[in-house]
Amino acid sequence: MTEVDIIKRNVARHALDLIEPGMTIGLGTGSTVEWLIKELAERVAQGFVLTVVPTSLKTAELVRKIGISVVDLNDVDALLLTIDGADEIDPFGQLIKGGGGALLQEKIVAAASQELIIIADYTKHVTQLGQFPLPVEVIPFGYKNVAKRILASGECKSCILREKADAPFITDHGHYILDCNYERISNPMELDLFLHNIPGVVETGLFIHLATRALIGFPDGRVEERKFR
Ligand code: 5RP
Repeated sequence: MTEVDIIKRNVARHALDLIEPGMTIGLGTGSTVEWLIKELAERVAQGFVLTVVPTSLKTAELVRKIGISVVDLNDVDALLLTIDGADEIDPFGQLIKGGGGALLQEKIVAAASQELIIIADYTKHVTQLGQFPLPVEVIPFGYKNVAKRILASGECKSCILREKADAPFITDHGHYILDCNYERISNPMELDLFLHNIPGVVETGLFIHLATRALIGFPDGRVEERKFR
């Protein structure tokens, strides 16, 4: 196991305390969340009951495998808590997400949830968003034109179609992803509005005013809690 894996597992163990038996929670996508699912498996085997609104087909498959029931967001009256990972998190709790390609459903579930708690290792904590290329989910039709408009703004250094096995990466909802390198995002809210105004853009990986708390893990075993509202 790498050092980062050990940190992710440690953060996931801390996150277990947030989950009470009988709850229905939103569950994100990615390797940190997968550690949480592995940790939950032991509890579920001992009779712990939990229902999950998954943010991707992958998460749905993983939780089903360990005996957790999956429910559609449409069938949930109120979602108190969602736990998810992030690619970058700034001091205000603004995030870049979508490294795993699940940003659309992740944002829908996060927006429906009273609390969004991010679990991440210290490498994700940044002073300013933008080092991680911003994933932008787009409709396949005319995506090259969308990429041109993103680049024409002048702030974006490169805008690359995400690929998997030499073919475009296809999201769970049948879309493409453009990975847009900004280096530094000085105004995430303004950028999010600009991107949403381009026809063909479905969603962006900018999560603003959604995270309520973060658990950040460090190499010395510390897990720091940050509150954003
Ligand atoms: C998936 C995501 C993930 O939360 C993000 O990529 C972090 O992943 P990991 O926990 O593997 O570092 O946004 O769309």
